Amino acid sequence: AALSGAPKPLAGRRAIVTAGPTAEPVDPVRVLTNRSSGKQGFAIAAALAELGCEVTLVAGPVSVPTPKGVRRVDVETAREMLAACEAALPADIAVCVAAVSDWRPEHVAATKTKKTGDGPPVLTLVENPDILATLSRSAARPKLVVGFAAETHEVEAYAQGKLTRKGCDWIVANDVSIAGTMGGDDNAVAIVTAGGIERWDRAPKAEVARRLAQRMAKEFS
Ligand code: CTP
Ligand code: CA
Repeated sequence: AALSGAPKPLAGRRAIVTAGPTAEPVDPVRVLTNRSSGKQGFAIAAALAELGCEVTLVAGPVSVPTPKGVRRVDVETAREMLAACEAALPADIAVCVAAVSDWRPEHVAATKTKKTGDGPPVLTLVENPDILATLSRSAARPKLVVGFAAETHEVEAYAQGKLTRKGCDWIVANDVSIAGTMGGDDNAVAIVTAGGIERWDRAPKAEVARRLAQRMAKEFS
């Protein structure tokens, strides 16, 4: 028994985790993207796997190593991320940590856009699908659906709004106005559920991930 290792409360359970940014092509050499590092999502995938969960990590373009025991699917665009998540269903848990690009260029130029002397081109954007809302409302809805919300102001009010709008079970809210959060190693989060708000102390992203995974496991005990 001493050699059996840590308890595996999520053994036999399946999770989908999205992480990183998406990149939306403008033309063959240009993309629209954002500053998500992928660290928090990768740490959550690792922490769920540590608890015995079978994890599919759907990752946008990031340079973070794949956690041990995690199945990783690399994607670029929001639409590819959604398709990879839907292909990974059914699952018990979905955790949408990715900073999905809200919009993509309506048209992708087939060749590199060149300067013409007539001034800059105008990009028309269209909205991307909402992966979290789609999974929350899917016929094969995971029992526990968790979203993240990075905000610079009115963090908890926006998180409550997102919980209702997206139909998920928890929103993990974090305040990215705190210096060093974007791309940094620490995170201060609040867990927003229909039952209320739980504020957690600032901690390394790996520690936040372990606590979140433990709290998720409780839903299955
Ligand atoms: N999300 C998603 N698909 C999108 C946009 C967001 O899955 N197209 C998920 C994110 O992964 C996150 C949650 O929704 O878990 C909240 O993302 P956020 O960008 O904060 O919410 P938005 O609804 O896009 O609102 P806004 O950016 O205007 O604040
Ligand atoms: Ca957004």
